[in-house]
Amino acid sequence: NETEARALVEPRIALIPDFPEPGVLFRDLTPVFADGPAFRALAAALTAPFEGRFDDLGGVEARGFLLAGAASALCGAGVLTVRKTGKLPRAVLSESYALEYGMAGLEVHEGELQPGARVLILDDVLATGGTVGAAARLVERAGWQVAGIAVALELTGLGGRERLAGYEVYSLLQY
Ligand code: PRP
Repeated sequence: NETEARALVEPRIALIPDFPEPGVLFRDLTPVFADGPAFRALAAALTAPFEGRFDDLGGVEARGFLLAGAASALCGAGVLTVRKTGKLPRAVLSESYALEYGMAGLEVHEGELQPGARVLILDDVLATGGTVGAAARLVERAGWQVAGIAVALELTGLGGRERLAGYEVYSLLQY
């Protein structure tokens, strides 16, 4: 359950001061992925609040892929790969979003899921919300529905949740 997942995940988040720039405390989830029980508990915790309300999982490159893959193995849902621009080989829909410096883009294959599919979007971190916001726009433009957005870590105070108003947003841990 959620409490057990927090107890497994939180102590395994590595804290790196001054990365990627001075003054930033970076929270690295790779030790969570490296620990089988913690990784499984995290994947289960992200889908639990949406049980029965989604058909497929939207994994955002790159760390969202891991979460979506693990959650898929637990619950049996399909995975939509929401990729960085230029990686998908067939007809795509594209969205760009703002990074701290410059822009980035995400893409999905048109027609990858059934029309109207309910997609739960998964990523590791919610900061400004630009990334999962772009993923949500892609899901809707493709003719699917956003069942919700679930992340392991939410960095509060960066406006992410506000930017995602209208979507159900779940985070296991908040900082
Ligand atoms: C990180 C993280 C989220 C995003 C969150 O990805 O994995 O996807 O930033 O930030 P936001 O809410 O402000 O958009 P990054 O862009 O570093 O790409 P990566 O997963 O390929 O490392």
